Amino acid sequence: MASDTASLDPDLAKVWLDRWDAQQERYVADRERRFAVIGEVLAHALSGCARPLVLDVGCGPGSLAGRTARRLPSAQIVGVDNDPLLLALARSAYPTLARFVEADLRLPGWSDRLGLDRDLDAAVSSTALHYLPVETLAETYRELARRMRPGGILVNADNLYDEQPAIAGVAAALRRTRLGDGEDWTSWWRAVAAEPALAELVARRRERATGGGDHRVSVSVHDALLRRAGFGQVGPVWQNGDDVVLVAVRSEECAEGREPKPIQT
Ligand SMILES: C[S@@+](CC[C@H](N)C(=O)[O-])C[C@H]1O[C@@H](n2cnc3c(N)ncnc32)[C@H](O)[C@@H]1O
Repeated sequence: MASDTASLDPDLAKVWLDRWDAQQERYVADRERRFAVIGEVLAHALSGCARPLVLDVGCGPGSLAGRTARRLPSAQIVGVDNDPLLLALARSAYPTLARFVEADLRLPGWSDRLGLDRDLDAAVSSTALHYLPVETLAETYRELARRMRPGGILVNADNLYDEQPAIAGVAAALRRTRLGDGEDWTSWWRAVAAEPALAELVARRRERATGGGDHRVSVSVHDALLRRAGFGQVGPVWQNGDDVVLVAVRSEECAEGREPKPIQT
């Protein structure tokens, strides 16, 4: 399992984490509300679990993992991401609330790196899965279904687009009206690069495999991929324009070994 060697001053990590949260709110105006919805979904779905095991997929600096740990104090939280710098911020800001693992979702067997000793009760994700091309997303959902107990729950909060151009256009217009005027993504990363205490992590980050981008996957394609992976019930539980919280419940039967069903679009 990957562990982080660079230890950061927790106060400094918190400064950068707060600045990250403000930067993300520029793009996701209802981010705190969305986190609260995820917390409520987990609290409801996991009310029967004494010590639920929850994975934050694409955890970044730990914004959702930290909030989940506070909302569900009995939960065991693991975060996974492929960015060593963001993970170092997460580990320093939340040294005891969660465990953070470096792994690339694009690589087969990424979940083996998590060091899980039991099945997941839940997986959550915020503003992360749109980085994955649809084939990788399908594989990620299969991997999550394989690691999750039957009845377990996946909660994905992200911008999920409508396939109907007029509806997508209205949602995009709504989103533009909600864009904040705080620090943007590029300025945040430029400021990080100028922070001497983060220099080693900036260098490590540059060495890793690049890629990503915004893969505009619609709700209906997410739905089809999730069902094909073994999540029997799928549906949005909260939405503001194209900002969606999508919930999926892992079926009793695992999809592994079954013939994939064709995607209905
Ligand atoms: C916009 S950030 C969101 C981070 C966090 N979930 C939040 O809401 O603040 C997207 C995250 O997805 C991670 N990510 C993107 N592609 C990934 C991949 N292939 N494997 C692991 N993590 C990935 C990025 O490193 C980044 O931390």
